[in-house]
Amino acid sequence: MKSLVLRRPDDWHVHLRDGAALAAVLPFTAARFARAMVMPNLNPPVTTTRQALEYRERIRARLPAGAAFEPLMTLYLTDATPPEEITRAKAAGIVGCKLYPAGATTHSDAGVTDVRRIDATLARMAEVGMVLQVHGEVTDPQVDIFEREARFIEAVLAPLAARHLQLRIVFEHITTRAALDFVHGARAGIGATVTPQHLLMNRNALFAGGLQPHHYCLPVLKAEEHRAALLAAVAGGSPRLFLGTDSAPHARRAKEAACGCAGIFSAHAGIELYAEAFEAAGALDQLEAFAALNGAAFYGLPRNEATVTLTRDAWRVPERLPFGDEELVPLRAGESLAWRLAA
Ligand code: NCD
Ligand code: ZN
Repeated sequence: MKSLVLRRPDDWHVHLRDGAALAAVLPFTAARFARAMVMPNLNPPVTTTRQALEYRERIRARLPAGAAFEPLMTLYLTDATPPEEITRAKAAGIVGCKLYPAGATTHSDAGVTDVRRIDATLARMAEVGMVLQVHGEVTDPQVDIFEREARFIEAVLAPLAARHLQLRIVFEHITTRAALDFVHGARAGIGATVTPQHLLMNRNALFAGGLQPHHYCLPVLKAEEHRAALLAAVAGGSPRLFLGTDSAPHARRAKEAACGCAGIFSAHAGIELYAEAFEAAGALDQLEAFAALNGAAFYGLPRNEATVTLTRDAWRVPERLPFGDEELVPLRAGESLAWRLAA
């Protein structure tokens, strides 16, 4: 049987939620990844250092016995985040701050209405070496949903990166050729995460045989040319791109609804899905850099020394997983996956 030994990967963008939901999904991430960048869009959001440290304790308390997993914490930026909060966060070991344009996605109501309002806070981030993690979509409902990422680059991200030349920025979950072009043409200190769904699916997956709520996430899946460009870029070994699943669990009831939530749960196969994508591109030899080296280098963190083994041994993804009092439909539910994580 074919097998693949990798340095233990990191997930640079994940939603772990809280309470019973956290307890349900955390073991999947902790089994695969050495570290994960934990998104702060709880309800209410994690806007202060104190809240982030308390959230980290709740995560640690839910870790399976013996798990070697480190949650890396982020702050949720609002119009009112003071520069002093950044200094406190840095001193407390918080790694990044997440910019959600207000209204862009799940639990983003408290996000930033205009980035120029937080220029002093961004300047402090650059000064103390805090990374800015960006949900890169404009929120204007007049803008076509498939164009919101490209529009964000010109309207917000490029000017922001030019105003704050020392600020390190991660363009999260990129989905388009425009985003790739921006990242590859940008100054030093700009990287991007790529999800498994945007490497494996295009927007047809939203409508295949009928409306598919479990394929709905934000940024929304894009046309095939964009998927192909993303896959070619990661397969080509771009050092600016790294793994971020954006695994975002929602209860089945909230997804299969008249107004379904955005978010795809992929943590149950958080490295296996990428192995499938890289294999399809004939680039399994590039998986380790994408999954375990590029992100650590960008964030200035040490490389993981442990390894994981993947075997080419197909398994069937469960139709549903427990999710507190609810249930969860994982990506590829009821279907077969080619790669398996060895115990
Ligand atoms: C995320 C969530 O559910 O928290 N949803 C998603 O579709 N990715 C929020 C986000 O990262 O946009
Ligand atoms: Zn996300």
